[in-house]
Amino acid sequence: MTKPVLGVLASGRGSNLQSIIDAIEKGQINASIGVVITDKPEAKALERAAAAGILAVCVDRKKCASKEEFEEKLVETLRKHDVSLVILAGFMRILSPYFVRAFKDCIMNIHPSLLPAFGGAHAHRDVLAYGVKVSGCTIHFVDEGMDSGPIILQDTVPVLPDDTEDVLAARVLEKEHVLYPKAIELYTKGKLSVSGRHVTIQE
Ligand code: GRF
Repeated sequence: MTKPVLGVLASGRGSNLQSIIDAIEKGQINASIGVVITDKPEAKALERAAAAGILAVCVDRKKCASKEEFEEKLVETLRKHDVSLVILAGFMRILSPYFVRAFKDCIMNIHPSLLPAFGGAHAHRDVLAYGVKVSGCTIHFVDEGMDSGPIILQDTVPVLPDDTEDVLAARVLEKEHVLYPKAIELYTKGKLSVSGRHVTIQE
């Protein structure tokens, strides 16, 4: 496999982006980041990319007349920088089938729960409200549904009696920062194969 070019999409603080940058720098992931794209000009991910010397672009959703125009600009920017694997890292937009088809089987997402439980935008709140004893994070390929694509890796954390959303989120985030680079490493080594819902990892 030729060295993959990643395109990372983020909306906020970008700590997962940082874990991927760090993993590339230390040689764990044999890939480059062609472009980081945010949907908001204030996203801290832009600063993190710039600090690492990575091209960072804001495709401001508010300046696009429609979702279609926004996604066309995303696709155009990713293609312009020869991106072969799209990494959603805290990108808080639901992407349409148009986008998913444009990068078929080449989009990964991280979700802060053990999917298929607690999908959606408020995973930690929903986990605490439900009273489950274990939560975690999931890395999955993106299909045309929400949080529904084939699962690559998962890891767990305990949910403790006094947890608040923030405390639980921080515990899960530590796992995220290990798991996302691991999944990308496996992809770049050609060790992932997908058949229907099932992702097989070659050892
Ligand atoms: C992470 O918890 C991720 O799982 C979720 O959004 C958060 C993004 O955090 N999708 P960061 O921007 O990577 O710090």
